[in-house]
Amino acid sequence: MRNKKTNDRLEPTVFVIFGGAGDLTWRKLVPALFDLSRDRSMPADFSVIAVDRVELSDEKLRRRLHDGVRKFSRQGMVKTAEWGEFARHIHYQQGDFKELQTYTALGEQCAKLEKEWGVKGHRIFYMATPPSMFGEIPGYLGKAGLARDCEWERIVVEKPIGYDLKSARALNAILAANFEESQIFRIDHYLGKETVQNILAFRFANPLFEPIWNRRYVDYVTITAAEAVGVEHRGGYYDHAGALRDMVQNHLMQLLCLVAMEPMVSFDADEIRNKKVDVLHAVRPILPGAVHQCVVRGQYGRGTLHGKIMHGYRQEDDVSSHSRTETFAALKLFVDNWRWQGVPFYLRTGKRMPRQFSEVAIQFRTVPHQSFPPESGRDWHPSRLVLSIQPEEGIVMGFQAKFPGPKMLLRPVEMRFTYQDGFAVPSPEAYETLLWDVMSNDPTLFMRADQVEAAWGLLMPVLEVWAESTPRDFPNYVAGSWGPKAADALLAREGHAWRPIA
Ligand code: BG6
Repeated sequence: MRNKKTNDRLEPTVFVIFGGAGDLTWRKLVPALFDLSRDRSMPADFSVIAVDRVELSDEKLRRRLHDGVRKFSRQGMVKTAEWGEFARHIHYQQGDFKELQTYTALGEQCAKLEKEWGVKGHRIFYMATPPSMFGEIPGYLGKAGLARDCEWERIVVEKPIGYDLKSARALNAILAANFEESQIFRIDHYLGKETVQNILAFRFANPLFEPIWNRRYVDYVTITAAEAVGVEHRGGYYDHAGALRDMVQNHLMQLLCLVAMEPMVSFDADEIRNKKVDVLHAVRPILPGAVHQCVVRGQYGRGTLHGKIMHGYRQEDDVSSHSRTETFAALKLFVDNWRWQGVPFYLRTGKRMPRQFSEVAIQFRTVPHQSFPPESGRDWHPSRLVLSIQPEEGIVMGFQAKFPGPKMLLRPVEMRFTYQDGFAVPSPEAYETLLWDVMSNDPTLFMRADQVEAAWGLLMPVLEVWAESTPRDFPNYVAGSWGPKAADALLAREGHAWRPIA
């Protein structure tokens, strides 16, 4: 994990981006690398080689990336001199991802740079291409002899890691045929978020919460990742993915693991990842016959958001007008182990909701005996702890307090920690943290093959049942609402509720 260091800790690095002319490079990767360089968190010697099929000069590429940095850099204003200093490290190489020649040329380029630097450099191969290329590139890197060196050569894989369990296994097998697991960095950008990393700090650096973090005190847990955006320009991809593949299989499952895992013995990457995989292994399988009771799917129709009329999903660009793809999913899961037996974990995600927020809410049980007079607690709420991931970054503890006055009246109040007030430094973007970790060879925040496959394994019955049954009520929520009514009913049946959001 990132531990703000200056560049002298990092060795020379060649950063090869396949899909270097694409959206991810422009929007996320180069702005993150630029911000790292501003924080003096790049090695003194580094080079970014953007590889893609289109014809482009170094100058043209740099201009385009400059525009991306101006729009997306966390630090806002970009000084021309700073950009100039950074941009001289960027080079373009035109090449077909399916031709060995592209890779041999890259190998030569890396060797040339290392010769200039007078030392061996780390070679990071980042697959920022459409997923259809993920299965091709590792083999070519292998053939070109660019995957051999466990210490110096690494590959970064973006999500989606597969389309289902079978394809995820196939992709992992291709990666494993060419690279050691220790060389493979599978990105889930949620893991790079400060507030997500803070879940472990909060749980295991404070003796206060761990004793109550179990079935004895916790009634249920809700995990939400709500977005106000629709599918934007990604209709083509999204219409073949849907919310379960796009958000639940990765981001929400990662949050579930961090909230439910047992304490790690050390901060060793595999120790943490083992504990997370244990959670997935303990999740009660969703049997095909129970899918309709435990999982809700939704698709947004036309609606209003912030006073603006929004298209329905089926009217979005590159989306089929009869699409059955879900833009909302809610699930009820149980973690069958000593700690969590019988405690429901409700996960939900959706697009075109009233506002963007991600959080984990731990709802505690009510007191075992109510000793206050009944009229004292008309607004009674059992205690609730909210780990707020974004956009507010912080933790809120809700509990009961005595309302001032002669009578014993109880009212819910909040104790609040925010990153903004608590720390005087801005949080890095998730990609900054993750790219820094790849450069410093720390796999803690990356997904291991077994974890990816375990998460797919859990969701396969849902995907299979959904594929066979047409959702007749789609669209079943209006843009700008909190999703289909059935998602509220999923909790209401147990006397539970999603945390109300203003
Ligand atoms: C991506 C999904 O992984 O995460 C997108 O593909 C989604 O559909 C995005 O919008 C959400 O990430 P964040 O960091 O904006 O919450």
